[in-house]
Amino acid sequence: MISIKPATPTFVAEIGDVDLARLTDADFADIEAAFERYAVLIFHNQPITEEQQLAFARRFGELEVSVQPFVQTPGGKRRIGDGMQDISNLDENGKLLSESDNRRLINLANQFWHTDSSFKRRPARMSMLTAQSVVSTGGETEFADMRAAWDALPADRQQKLEGLIAEHDYYRSRLMVGLDPKSISPERRALRPAVPQVLVRTHPATGRKSLYLASHITRIFGMDAAEGRNLVDELTAHATQRAFVYQHRWTVDDVVLWDNRCTMHRGRPFDESLPRAMRRATISDVGPTVPEDSHPAA
Ligand SMILES: [Fe+2]
Repeated sequence: MISIKPATPTFVAEIGDVDLARLTDADFADIEAAFERYAVLIFHNQPITEEQQLAFARRFGELEVSVQPFVQTPGGKRRIGDGMQDISNLDENGKLLSESDNRRLINLANQFWHTDSSFKRRPARMSMLTAQSVVSTGGETEFADMRAAWDALPADRQQKLEGLIAEHDYYRSRLMVGLDPKSISPERRALRPAVPQVLVRTHPATGRKSLYLASHITRIFGMDAAEGRNLVDELTAHATQRAFVYQHRWTVDDVVLWDNRCTMHRGRPFDESLPRAMRRATISDVGPTVPEDSHPAA
């Protein structure tokens, strides 16, 4: 049987007494229950292969197919196999990316607070990062508990937020790190249209409500630009204050997974002249947060 050691009372837990390369159905059931109850799970000393990581992730649902128009090499070659995102500063041959490489720029956007794939109509349920190569200082991943952030808002404020819908756009965060707008062809733009998402989510397993925010948000429907921006910035500042945030410092062979429905996360800066390599498997949510027929495409 797995062991569950809370790192915080209700948000983050370390899972032990388990071998992710040989996971039984009973152990997975306990892990999934912990995932629903907490939101971030940490496993140490799990040197799993790409295949084993994919197999573990797939137990949580359908693997997200990622369209990464800028994260591909000219010849389509990748450092890691298909099915996972390459969260590293290395090219397809394992060499450090040059400073001007678009892949580096794209990864920089991970340093803004976000939840994975909220720029897709059907966003991510779960993400799982495994660490193959780490840096000794910096490069931590921080998680914000969006349920706790919601709970801490006064009731009259909560009431005003329920029912609001935000527009999320993949390119907002990418343009913020300096991606050249001219480099985005209409075809690439069309692959990632902006999408509507509810601002307040209810977790299907626990019934707990949470704020659903990301650096991908461009506007709030029904508000003028400044009002919407102020609201998103203010809620983001509220949700990412220290009391709601946990920082994970990486060790090689760590596996960390998180619930994108009720958390935000961000990567912290590190010395980019040092290699750092991780892989992310992402599982889609069961459906869109805004039914496709009830809200126009943004
Ligand atoms: Fe992310």
